[in-house]
Amino acid sequence: MLIAQLSDLHVGGGRYREELLRTAISEINALQPDLVVVAGDLTDDGYPDQYPVVKEEVAAIECPHVVVVPGNHDARNVGYLRFEDTFGARDSRVRCDVDKLQVAVVAVDSSKPDLDTGEIGREHYGWIQEGFAEAVDLRVFVCHHHLMPIPGTGRERNQVLDAGDVLSLLRHAQVDLVLSGHRHVPYVWPVAGLLLVHSGTVSTLRTRGFDEPAYNLIEVDRERISVELHVPGGRVQTLGEYPRIWPVELSARDADPLVHLQPSPSLAND
Ligand SMILES: [Fe+2]
Ligand SMILES: [Fe+2]
Repeated sequence: MLIAQLSDLHVGGGRYREELLRTAISEINALQPDLVVVAGDLTDDGYPDQYPVVKEEVAAIECPHVVVVPGNHDARNVGYLRFEDTFGARDSRVRCDVDKLQVAVVAVDSSKPDLDTGEIGREHYGWIQEGFAEAVDLRVFVCHHHLMPIPGTGRERNQVLDAGDVLSLLRHAQVDLVLSGHRHVPYVWPVAGLLLVHSGTVSTLRTRGFDEPAYNLIEVDRERISVELHVPGGRVQTLGEYPRIWPVELSARDADPLVHLQPSPSLAND
């Protein structure tokens, strides 16, 4: 199974480069991925005139399963409403069968209007657990903000405020992959069975800690997950190959207060 992960398009921004996005999408289309994840910051400011432009660009992605979540830049003021008008629900759950793998994707809006900081929020926990409850071969969680600090990004800021609770929740749900963006630095954290994969910015020169625009390609089979970084129109670099560990029995020592709580009622926008 092949997943393409891109984020931080920042359409409409001063350092946005349309040719980078178009090159990346045409490279991705040529590889015919099974799933494409666009992990937030599609626009630079959430302005009404930026959404139609990015909608047209994203529409060029040729894939049966495209999952999109908003980032902090998309949500500014009432930008999150524009996002809904353009792409539909900000939270989504997708089930698909790919290469004999049953895949569950849960994608959540981690943005809050006019804050750069992320938060999943406890009102989402039950809905996330439900999305991963079924026996499947691969579980993928998507949100814009990072759950772990990213090296090379200066002093830590803007991380998901409830990252500890969310990491525990995802671990107990035996999630395989967490796909995020936001810091514009590509990085992979293998953490307690989870593989947290962060994409850089695909189409801007808003780069510091990692100074090239980039997107990720992730290849999954039953035994391992390989992550590759691609510079649009440029070089390719491996970000590592990681063994898959689920399913394993979590020991009693792994128990924590959250997993004993009943899921909260489902959100309506499934
Ligand atoms: Fe960004
Ligand atoms: Fe962001």
